[in-house]
Amino acid sequence: MDIVLMGPPGAGKGTQAARLQEKTGLVHLSTGDLLRRHVADRTELGNQAYGCMSRGELVPDELVTTMALDQVFSPPYTSGVLFDGFPRTRAQAVALEEALASRQRRVAAVLCLTAPDELLLQRLTGRRACGDCGAGYHLLDKPPAADGVCDACGGGLLSRDDDSEETARIRLRDHHTVGAPVEDHYVRAGLLHRVDGTGGVPEVTERLLDALPLTVP
Ligand code: AP5
Repeated sequence: MDIVLMGPPGAGKGTQAARLQEKTGLVHLSTGDLLRRHVADRTELGNQAYGCMSRGELVPDELVTTMALDQVFSPPYTSGVLFDGFPRTRAQAVALEEALASRQRRVAAVLCLTAPDELLLQRLTGRRACGDCGAGYHLLDKPPAADGVCDACGGGLLSRDDDSEETARIRLRDHHTVGAPVEDHYVRAGLLHRVDGTGGVPEVTERLLDALPLTVP
């Protein structure tokens, strides 16, 4: 089964996808994470994507689509993917549908997290992650015991380049214009479920599980 998890920056897609993967067996595929890995490894794709990402703009469709679809038909993604941050444009949605259909697969549901912009901005600007082990923190909701230091491994905490207030505002503004046609596309296909992304992390997970068209043990 293939599921799309969408929503604005900071809606909780990455946080929730990790929890849903644990509870459902769907395998999390985040185009943002894949792109950040390419940037860190200084691959050709990473070099091409870096400018767009640091300005808070979308990476061109053909680059992201090729990168995502290259993964989907190989282990561990062969029996079902939880897409996070993909598709983000109508062209990406169509490319995904065509690719899945060629292997008798299809998007079974689209879960769209919603939250007000001010909350999203607070989540983005307060996000931190350990530069060594990757553990996630939030300055308000999940602060580390010592400022700037990872509780788990003692590594230094970093914020994402695109989480500055200025860039986060650009990402949110653009999401509303670029994201709307994708939502409409999935509404017309009868696949879109809007899920309230406010409240605590476990509460949002329960809402997402309720909206998923599968039985969770
Ligand atoms: P990407 O990494 O996908 O970023 P995004 O969509 O902007 O989403 P975020 O990762 O910022 O937020 P999230 O919704 O995952 O929230 P999270 O769970 O981390 O993409 C980055 C860039 O890559 C894009 O700008 C673009 O340039 C490029 N890109 C990626 N995919 C692309 C595509 N398909 N096409 C073109 N370009 C693409 O949570 C955020 C914070 O809030 C965390 O600190 C978390 O702990 C906290 N939090 C989450 N939920 C809660 C809660 N319920 N209560 C309290 N705190 C919470």
